[in-house]
Amino acid sequence: MFLTEEGTVHALDDTCTHQDASLAAGWVENCRVECPLHESTFSLRTGEVDQPPAKRGVRVHQVTVQDGEVLVELSTAAPQLPPGVEVR
Ligand code: FES
Repeated sequence: MFLTEEGTVHALDDTCTHQDASLAAGWVENCRVECPLHESTFSLRTGEVDQPPAKRGVRVHQVTVQDGEVLVELSTAAPQLPPGVEVR
């Protein structure tokens, strides 16, 4: 889960679609997260990849902030995992 400087909250799968790296350890700027391993960037809103080497976007989950609580509705879409990585 990511909180931007603008105060918006976003939920994405944590694993980068390029290799097994945690996006939670990445850099967040302009509503994008940069993978800490090879610097691909992903939109926090859509999960789309903006910068290679990753070629596929990361799955996003719907977030609602209600009375100060963050509610996450998990996506039913298949996760976009990198080769060799299985669902944990
Ligand atoms: S592991 Fe994320 S860009 Fe390579």
